Amino acid sequence: MLVFAKIKSIQQKIKSLKKGTSIGFVPTMGALHKGHLSLIKQAKKENDIVVVSIFVNPTQFDKKEDLINYPKTIDTDLSLLKSIYCDIVFTPTAEEIYSNNIQSQSFNFDGLEFQMEGKFRDGHFDGVGTIVKRLFEIVTPHKSYFGEKDFQQLQIIKKMVEKYQIPVKVIGCDIFREKDGLAMSSRNSRLTKKHREVAPFIYKTLKKAKIEFGTKNASEIVEMVENEFKKQPLLELEYFEIADEETLQSIKNKDQKRKYRAFIAIFANKIRLIDNISL
Ligand code: PAJ
Repeated sequence: MLVFAKIKSIQQKIKSLKKGTSIGFVPTMGALHKGHLSLIKQAKKENDIVVVSIFVNPTQFDKKEDLINYPKTIDTDLSLLKSIYCDIVFTPTAEEIYSNNIQSQSFNFDGLEFQMEGKFRDGHFDGVGTIVKRLFEIVTPHKSYFGEKDFQQLQIIKKMVEKYQIPVKVIGCDIFREKDGLAMSSRNSRLTKKHREVAPFIYKTLKKAKIEFGTKNASEIVEMVENEFKKQPLLELEYFEIADEETLQSIKNKDQKRKYRAFIAIFANKIRLIDNISL
C-alpha cells in the first residue's frame, strides 16, 4: 500500500499506471469504521486499483468545536486499509489542499443544498463540493463511492458531477449498521455510554415511520416521530422530514411514481447524528 501526502507525488503515481487501469476512489475523513470499509470493498471489486483519501476537510465544518473534536486515528486507519488491500492512500494536509486560503467555492446545486442538512449546517455543502471536486481533479477516478448514510451529500455530488461534466461515475452504497441498528459513524465513538445505549432508538423510529408510510400521510408520521422523541429525553430531535429522493423537497402529496425517503438528525448530548431510510 502506498501512502502519499503530496499532490504531485500521487499524481505522478497515477500517471505512471498502465493505460486502461480503472481507478476506484473513496474519499473519507478518516476515523474509519466498517461503513467506510464496505465502500472500499465494493470499490475493490469493481476496479483495478483503489484510492482512499483521508482528509478532515475544514471548510465543511460550520462549528469550529466539531472540527477540533473530530476523531483522528490515522495509524489505525492505515493498518485497517492495509488489511483490506487498499492500493493507494492520500493523506494531504490542509495547506497542501488549500495553500493558505482555507475557503470554499460557492456552488449552485439547484436547490438540493437548501434542504435538510443545508438548513442546519451553514456552508457545509459548499465545503463538501469544494473538496470533492478538488480530490476528483487530483485522483482522476473512473468510479467514486459514497454512502447513502449521507444521502443528501450523495445527491449533491451526483449533481456536481453532472453540472461540471466531471468524467467519474458516482456510486451510492448501502448504509452499514451496528447489530442494534445504529448507523455506523465516526461520531459514534464520542457518545457517552448511556447515549450509545439509547441511540438505536433512531433507526427503530425510522423503521416505524417506514411501516406507517404505507397507510398514513406524511404529516401524521412527522407528528408520530416528534411524539416518540419526546419520550426519549437523551436524544434531541433536530429535524425529521419525508422528502423526494431526487429533489429532496419535503413531500406534499404522495405520488406513486416518486421515491421517498425519511431523513433524521438528532443531538445526543453535543454529538450530532444523522440517518435515513427509503420508504
Ligand atoms: P466521512 O464521514 O468520513 O464518510 C466517508 C464516506 O463514507 C461517505 O461517502 C459516507 O457517506 C460513507 N459512510 C459513512 N458512514 C457510513 C455507513 N454507516 N454506511 C455506509 N457508508 C458510510 O462524508 C465524508 O466523510 C466527507 O463529507 C467527504 C465526502 C470525505 C468530503 O470531505
